[in-house]
Amino acid sequence: MKITLDTLADADIPACHALFVDAVHTLGRRHYNEAQCAAWAPSGTMPDSWRDGWAKRLSRAWGVKALSEDGRLAGFAWLLSDGEFDMLFVAPWAAGQGVGTRLVGALVYEADAAGLAELTAYASHGARPLFERAGFTTLRDNLVWRDGVAIENWIMKKALPGREAT
Ligand SMILES: CC(C)(COP(=O)(O)OP(=O)(O)OC[C@H]1O[C@@H](n2cnc3c(N)ncnc32)[C@H](O)[C@@H]1OP(=O)(O)O)[C@@H](O)C(=O)NCCC(=O)NCCS
Repeated sequence: MKITLDTLADADIPACHALFVDAVHTLGRRHYNEAQCAAWAPSGTMPDSWRDGWAKRLSRAWGVKALSEDGRLAGFAWLLSDGEFDMLFVAPWAAGQGVGTRLVGALVYEADAAGLAELTAYASHGARPLFERAGFTTLRDNLVWRDGVAIENWIMKKALPGREAT
């Protein structure tokens, strides 16, 4: 599938939220049960508190979106300026075609260019192989608690070599 990458903007947040809910309940559901998916990504309209929280985090992140040829949002990701991968979601109709890999690659490139020494990802079961292929090492498993529901993920790290000035 042909996609183009573009910078993620604040105005993209509502579309990203819709994609996030869809991705978790469809792709995430392959590895997590219904209660976990519901706690991870509550369905329905994005609450204002979430909208504000996402905007605040995106304002201190490198953000990228993937667009299909007809302009549809195929995926998005952002990486906080402290080196933490905060978001990585791909639309179910675009999954398994390398979109997630492209998004991660673009953000690793940005962080490396900015001089970050190390990246961290709290990778879902579904995203762990992708991060491994991108050079991340699994440190240990981890539990996130949402609404009393435990959601497992993996703490992963990647050291960045840095780029020599040209
Ligand atoms: C995890 C997620 C982001 C992966 O996105 P994706 O675009 O499907 O990822 P990719 O296509 O790059 O890689 C997924 C698989 O497709 C395969 N693939 C990659 N490029 C491909 C291509 N061009 N053609 C066919 N298959 C391809 C990969 O081998 C990979 O397989 P594996 O991960 O089982 O080893 C997506 O499934 C998602 O949004 N999941 C729900 C939410 C979630 O878990 N988010 C991550 C939070 S850390």
